[in-house]
Amino acid sequence: MAVDRRPLIAGNWKMNFDHLQAIAFTQKLAWTLRDANHDYATTEVAIFPPFTDLRSIQNLIEGDKFDLAYGGQDVSSHDAGAYTGEVSGSFLKALGASYVLIGHSERRQYHAETDEIVRAKVEASLRHDLIPIICVGETESDLEQFGPSAVPVAQLRAALSGIAEKDIVIAYEPVWAIGTGKAATDEQAEQVCGALRTALAEAWGMAPAESTRILYGGSVKATNIAALMRQPNIDGALVGGASLDISEFASICRFLKHVV
Ligand code: 13P
Repeated sequence: MAVDRRPLIAGNWKMNFDHLQAIAFTQKLAWTLRDANHDYATTEVAIFPPFTDLRSIQNLIEGDKFDLAYGGQDVSSHDAGAYTGEVSGSFLKALGASYVLIGHSERRQYHAETDEIVRAKVEASLRHDLIPIICVGETESDLEQFGPSAVPVAQLRAALSGIAEKDIVIAYEPVWAIGTGKAATDEQAEQVCGALRTALAEAWGMAPAESTRILYGGSVKATNIAALMRQPNIDGALVGGASLDISEFASICRFLKHVV
């Protein structure tokens, strides 16, 4: 974590919580963070609910003036038209979303999202003034075959090819660490996040590489966040399972209180 990059703790709810559950959960989360005097200026907190929750989340956050940011878990590469089931970046923007997750490994695995599709979705999000959180990561067999950073770096290069410098976030999520309880060690995560920053510097130059936030995701918990956040190239976390538990997620958001 570098002092001039504001850490971002992002909760990816995946396909959990309908809109009623989302309202209750988000309200309790915001109150828990408020009671703990969480300073959002020091650590940003964002949630990524299912699409059907977003209107309720917007009403709640705007109505109660919570400082939580939010975004979609995916976006269409198209802006409008005959694309049944897809959601345009313009719709997310109209709901007050700031961010959108792109290329999560579950999208790549279950929805056949290729590097080309990921790249088109990055472009779509930028067209609608949404900050893409570009997810990259290797499987266990990629790791054995190609080593730790080759696949995530190649995915990042492909996602950004032909795209000029913009405000983006990168999330390194090793597939073998997602939902397994087996997080990457802080050294492993730092090695790949450092390689991603170098790749970004090659694409866009040093200044944007230095200012872009790189998150780690994969079995992040209250007990391992502090060590991860001590690494110089890790600027936050993309949290799955633990983002569905208020006290656990609030504790992750307050990592500065347990970084020693
Ligand atoms: P877990 O935190 O459940 O391992 O999930 C990580 C993830 O996929 C976040 O996008």
